[in-house]
Parts: sequence; C-alpha cells; structure tokens
Amino acid sequence: MIETINLTKRFGNLVAVNNLNIRVNSGEIYGFLGPNGAGKTTTIRMITGLIKPTKGTVLIEGVDLSENPIKAKSLIGLIPDTPAVYKKLTGREFLYFVADIYDIDRKTAKRKMEEIFNMFSLTDKADELIETYSHGMQQKIVIAAALIHDPSVFILDEPTVGLDPKSAKLVKDLLRALAKKGKTIFMSTHILEIAEKMCDRVGIIKEGNLIAEGTIPELKKMAKDESANLEDLFLELTGGEDTKDLIKFLEE
Ligand SMILES: Nc1ncnc2c1ncn2[C@@H]1O[C@H](COP(=O)(O)OP(=O)(O)O)[C@@H](O)[C@H]1O
Ligand SMILES: [Mg+2]
Repeated sequence: MIETINLTKRFGNLVAVNNLNIRVNSGEIYGFLGPNGAGKTTTIRMITGLIKPTKGTVLIEGVDLSENPIKAKSLIGLIPDTPAVYKKLTGREFLYFVADIYDIDRKTAKRKMEEIFNMFSLTDKADELIETYSHGMQQKIVIAAALIHDPSVFILDEPTVGLDPKSAKLVKDLLRALAKKGKTIFMSTHILEIAEKMCDRVGIIKEGNLIAEGTIPELKKMAKDESANLEDLFLELTGGEDTKDLIKFLEE
C-alpha cells in the first residue's frame, strides 16, 4: 500500500506538487497520468525518498518514510525514468551488486537471479557486459534489479518510454503478474493509451494538482459530461490537435 497525505514540493516559487492525496492498494496498478512537467517525477522522487517533500507524508505499507526511511525504502522497488546501470559490469555482476546493497545473502540472490534471468530471457547474456545489451535488454536489467529484493511496492517512472513493443508487452505482463501476487504498482505516464491498457485506476495530475481520479471509463465519462478542463487535457494527452481524435476517444 502507498499513501500520500498532503504531499507538496516547492522549487522556489514553483509548486511542482500541490497537496497530493493518493492511496494505492495492494494488488492494484495505479497510473499517474499527466503531461510533461505536471509533477510526476517529482512525486515519484518524494515517494521513494530521493527528495524531501516541502510538506506532507508518505506511507509505504503504513511505514512513514520520513520517520523510518530505511524500513520504508526496503519495501520499494524503483524503476526510475533515467536508470543508472553500471555498463562495465555484466548483468550477473550488476544484480549481485544490487543484492549486496539490500543485504541479501548470496544463495538467495543466486536463486532469485536465475529465476529473473529466465523470465526475461537474459540467461544467455547474463555474463556479458551490460554495455553490449540493446536498449530493451538494459531496461530489463533495471527492472530485474528492482525485483531482486522482492519488494511489495513497485514504483515506475514512464516505464515503457523507449521500449520496443515486445519489451513493452513484457513489462505490461510482468506488472499484471506482480499485481496478481498482491504487489502494489504505481506507474507514471504521459501517454493516455498506456494508462488505459495497463492501469486499474488512474490519477490525473496537471500543474502539480490531482484534478481527477478513477478508472479510464469513469474519467472518459467525466470528460464528456462535465469537465471541459479534463476534456482539453485528454486532447493534449492523446497528442492530437485534431478534435476528431478526442471525440473518437471519448466515444469508444
Ligand atoms: N530540481 C528541480 N528544481 C527546480 N524545478 C524543478 C526541479 N525538478 C522539477 N522541477 C520542475 O517541476 C515541475 C515538474 O517536473 P517533473 O516532476 O519532472 O514533471 P513530469 O515528470 O511530470 O514531467 C516542472 O516545472 C519542472 O521544471
Ligand atoms: Mg518525468
């Protein structure tokens, strides 16, 4: 479970995230949808303890991140938007390195790793340097690193950006399987179609404010019935200047 209470971040005069109240339950894939600059990455950095909020609280499985950061972070698997991998390591070396950070014993790490390499079809490449991997394979290694300590909460920042369709499908299937196991998934995206295809519930963020929340069908209905603001936003997110796109989208 992830909960934010009045979570706020200011950068000087800019309110990047404004009094955000979100709750994501175990077994749920929550999409955090908004255009570029809306505050998605800032929110993720606060939820994962990479930056301190100006105000507000983050609870991970009920553990207060500011009061008990080590415990809270041990429950999180993060897949950042610009992942850092050590390209001069092999896939296996990199995963051992990550396992060491999380204090996982070698035997457990080895078992877990074989399982993950297998799942991602990386077994053949496990002992080659990461710099020789394709972009999709590097993305898989980043995801593998987030799985190794068996976290209960997964946080992904624009996970399918730059992925080929096959890798994107793999990420999608993986997230669904994790949710089924009772994990909590929070992912950001600026692509409406991805939120629609992958997420059980979606929160829409615009200029730091959560302006709507619900399932995609619920949000579509809201845009159609009452909210010109939401309608404009959907138009922006579908990327089309042509209103026909929006009409088609709302009528689907
Ligand atoms: N470290 C920072 N210093 C100043 N402004 C920032 C910083 N990080 C993000 N911002 C600003 O906060 C807003 C939200 O950014 P971000 O969270 O990266 O948006 P998103 O991930 O939704 O594209 C943007 O206006 C961005 O320029
Ligand atoms: Mg971002």
